Amino acid sequence: MRRLALTLAATTVAVIGLSACGKAGGASEAETASAPAPAAVPEPTEGEKQTLLAALPAPYNTGDLANGKKVFAVCKSCHTIVPGGANMTGPNLYGMFGRKPGTAEGYKYSDIVKAATFTWDADHLDQWLASPKTFMPGTKMTFMGVKDAKDRVDLIAYLKVETGYQPH
Ligand code: HEC
Repeated sequence: MRRLALTLAATTVAVIGLSACGKAGGASEAETASAPAPAAVPEPTEGEKQTLLAALPAPYNTGDLANGKKVFAVCKSCHTIVPGGANMTGPNLYGMFGRKPGTAEGYKYSDIVKAATFTWDADHLDQWLASPKTFMPGTKMTFMGVKDAKDRVDLIAYLKVETGYQPH
């Protein structure tokens, strides 16, 4: 019985190990492929954006991109989202999904953001956007947050579609 449990545990570890490897390999390949010329990433067409939106997990698949764009207007004074876009008061956000906080090229982050160990996904972003200072006390993002939950859904759907997110 004990032996069976051990074998099972070892199998589980092997499977987890494999899938983690697969993921890491895929991500770094994608990075290498797009790294030399980030500005050359083609802008997705409206049709491609709608396909990407529909492929997002609920509730983001029904996000209102037009409203997301409107909500993003408050972020624009500090952030660009295009490939190779400038860091301003805040970092460029292109390619942020699946990447660790505090890793946009050439941007000087606060210690708390640099120390974060999660990767940006919809859930973390939702908490961050609700109140950056509650989520990461000590952040230098001086922004009070997007209070309306539906506005955050629309904004996150918009950011996924605009910042090069690829569903796995
Ligand atoms: C007043 C300027 C300002 C506004 C407005 C602002 N931000 Fe930021 N943002 C920052 C700064 C500064 C940082 C870096 C935070 C740090 O290092 O503590 C940041 C960091 C971030 C990060 C983390 C990026 C990374 O690479 O880890 C995300 C995501 C983000 N902002 C999204 C948004 C969104 C979406 C909005 C609009 C709802 C927004 N921000 C509005 C200044 C701003």
